Amino acid sequence: MLISSISKASSLLLMVIIGASSTSTVEGASHVNLRSWDEAKVLAKELVGQMSLEQKVNMTTGMGFNITPCVGNTYPITNPDFPSLCLQDAPLGMRFAYNVTAGVSGVNAAASFDKKAILQRGEYMGAEFRGKGVHIQLGPAMNFMRSPEGGRGWESFGEDPYLTGVAAAETITGIQSQGVIATSKHFIANDQEKNRHEESSNIDDRTMHEVYLWPFARSVEAGVGSVMCSYNKLNGTTACENEIMNSLLKEELGFNGFIQTDWWAALSTVDSPTNGLDMVMPGNMDQSDNHSPSYFGANLVNAVKEGKVKESRVTDMAVRIASAYYKMGQDKNFPKTTLDSFNPTPKGSVNVEANHKELVREMGAASVVLLSNEKNILPLTKADRSISIIGSDAFSDPLLFDRSKCGDFGCDPATLIQGWGSGTVSFPSYIVAPLDGIKARAGKNVKIQSTNDNYDLENAKKIAQASDIAIVFANADAGEEYISVDGNVGDRKNLTLWNNGDNLIQAVADANKNTIVVIHAVGAVLMPWANHPNIKAIVWPGLPGQESGNSLADVLFGDVNPSGRLPYTIAKKIEDYPAAATADLEIDYSEKLNVGYRWFDHKNIEPLYPFGYGLSYTKFDYGKLKVKVNGKKNQVSAQLQVQNIGHVDGAEVVQLYLSFPKDAGEPPKILRGFEKVFIKAGGHHKQSVKFELTKTELSIWDVTSQSWVIPHGEFEIHIGASSRDIRQSATFQL
Ligand SMILES: *[C@@H]1O[C@H](CO)[C@@H](O)[C@H](O)[C@H]1NC(C)=O
Ligand SMILES: *[C@@H]1O[C@H](CO)[C@@H](O)[C@H](O)[C@H]1NC(C)=O
Ligand SMILES: *[C@@H]1O[C@H](CO)[C@@H](O)[C@H](O)[C@H]1NC(C)=O
Ligand SMILES: *[C@@H]1O[C@H](CO)[C@@H](O)[C@H](O)[C@H]1NC(C)=O
Repeated sequence: MLISSISKASSLLLMVIIGASSTSTVEGASHVNLRSWDEAKVLAKELVGQMSLEQKVNMTTGMGFNITPCVGNTYPITNPDFPSLCLQDAPLGMRFAYNVTAGVSGVNAAASFDKKAILQRGEYMGAEFRGKGVHIQLGPAMNFMRSPEGGRGWESFGEDPYLTGVAAAETITGIQSQGVIATSKHFIANDQEKNRHEESSNIDDRTMHEVYLWPFARSVEAGVGSVMCSYNKLNGTTACENEIMNSLLKEELGFNGFIQTDWWAALSTVDSPTNGLDMVMPGNMDQSDNHSPSYFGANLVNAVKEGKVKESRVTDMAVRIASAYYKMGQDKNFPKTTLDSFNPTPKGSVNVEANHKELVREMGAASVVLLSNEKNILPLTKADRSISIIGSDAFSDPLLFDRSKCGDFGCDPATLIQGWGSGTVSFPSYIVAPLDGIKARAGKNVKIQSTNDNYDLENAKKIAQASDIAIVFANADAGEEYISVDGNVGDRKNLTLWNNGDNLIQAVADANKNTIVVIHAVGAVLMPWANHPNIKAIVWPGLPGQESGNSLADVLFGDVNPSGRLPYTIAKKIEDYPAAATADLEIDYSEKLNVGYRWFDHKNIEPLYPFGYGLSYTKFDYGKLKVKVNGKKNQVSAQLQVQNIGHVDGAEVVQLYLSFPKDAGEPPKILRGFEKVFIKAGGHHKQSVKFELTKTELSIWDVTSQSWVIPHGEFEIHIGASSRDIRQSATFQL
């Protein structure tokens, strides 16, 4: 019965999975001719050369908060003309707007491990921002899940620098292909919310380069137009006044765009611009007075006149801003800004949604991580005649749409599709809740019973008992520190599920021997029930966006074969993690290079579910790994064949981990490549998978010479289906 339901679905499956990463087109996308930085700089210098000091300064200064169309606007300039630039949140879609798409969160984009899909996500977001006349999207977020509690970790791409770097670069390329400036943020080490304005992240030089700066290096290579400096301090100096803006970003990485502040992160008129800051946001220095003066504006004009800041620095600031504008072709046919962020109404709003919900549905499904699946209880089959759906997380709720009571999504009454804070997107007119998606897919021959009461455990048990399959839902939320939800001030105060989730799961599992657990979470949670004999499957859709229920149903019913992989480690207990979100004002990043799974390898701690892990409805076999070394060119290529030896078509995420020579001082192994490959079932279809390692992947940061060097000695390549499921290894010498 299993097989028949699957084979029926498999032609559809083929379309959907290939569609997610190669045939879908992004409707509403424009074809923009981007300029090179050199071409853009020529135009920028010509423009800025005609400007007075006041005009140049005004280009770098925000007009104040809550009084302009966007969350940030620069002053417009006339004669010569330069528009007021519109800057708008967020990394996963547009905040404070109507008729926009609420897609998957950054951490889900990472969980897809699908470069093409991440690129397309960037493209459709760019198309939506362009469509509303937004010049600068405030994303991607690229901070780290250094500790699982970190409130904004879900906006970014997980715990690994390589994965974060690839996801950031694809996102930036996608956004900017639409002529919208992307913003890499937050620079740098803004990895928790607690005391984020006071704490100092203290990081040694090598760790800085190999972990925290790494994704910014990949962003600069991808041509990112803007970088946002963060609230926290780095080694004791506020990021937005820190000389690393000049030394690391502009000199070492060769960044050509402009550095803007996080909102109200600027604290000075002289130190900030002198050390590399180019734009102050939102402009007013006093957060309680929207019209208060700026650290830039008239103050910066005076500082130049008093000789405290060089005028050439101000010219450079304006040139950098104009360069990003010209690079993205915003001087030609850029739509006029139609946002009204602080008083948005649907009336007259430009609808930019196009077909993007299809991409969101595909990506929601492609980022579901299947953690366990005993006796192939999934996908659901025709024999499953009755299903109970239990838990508030399976439902929608009017509160989610109430912007006055649940602003920036600081509430958790129902299903969770994103965290809270400024990094959120406005929903369109609907959310497909899990219950709706499952009902629609199951059809009327399946009896569905449900409850959204997480506290009436007797009732939950009664409903669970009465059906063939019980699906129980729970979630865990987090967000930005200016909103506190259930005592969680941004960062999570614990790693347990919310709203009585653990007790609900336990009760349902006690009552039904075919229990399936579904978790919507911002990051790792503790799962004390993971080994309950009645829990046959654990499904992890993360933060899937507006099509949540459809994406989930696609996977539960086998229309899509799950292929998401964990972009972070799920530990057995909280003490196992390398770092916690702490109240200390001096935060020493003492785990150094051993972030995430590297720590678990280094300390030999067995995780509950490792980084890179996720099951499929089929099985893959890895052929023999062949490695070729071109020592002169510092190039290493690795190739192998992967076969689908199961009964359904599906996608595998083939991962390459590298072990450096012993005395290089690296973690036991680190991710240095991944490819998501779709392979038809039947075993005779072999897919060749190839990795190219260049100097970037083979080097370590040498503190003495202040350069990237390739260590000499024996390297080992490990190819696996997760960081703890290595299938093939081979050594080579450099
Ligand atoms: C610059 O902006 C200020 C507002 O801060 C405005 O009064 C002034 O006219 C602008 N100057 C120029 C030259 O555009
Ligand atoms: C921060 O301090 C550490 C320890 O002294 C040092 O190794 C590192 O280079 C410093 N980072 C920067 C950017 O100055
Ligand atoms: C815009 O969104 C509103 C509210 O979500 C909806 O009622 C309206 O139909 C949408 N407009 C368009 C043009 O789609
Ligand atoms: C952890 O926090 C959540 C959300 O605030 C809360 O529901 C739960 O009861 C807390 N768990 C413990 C063990 O205190």
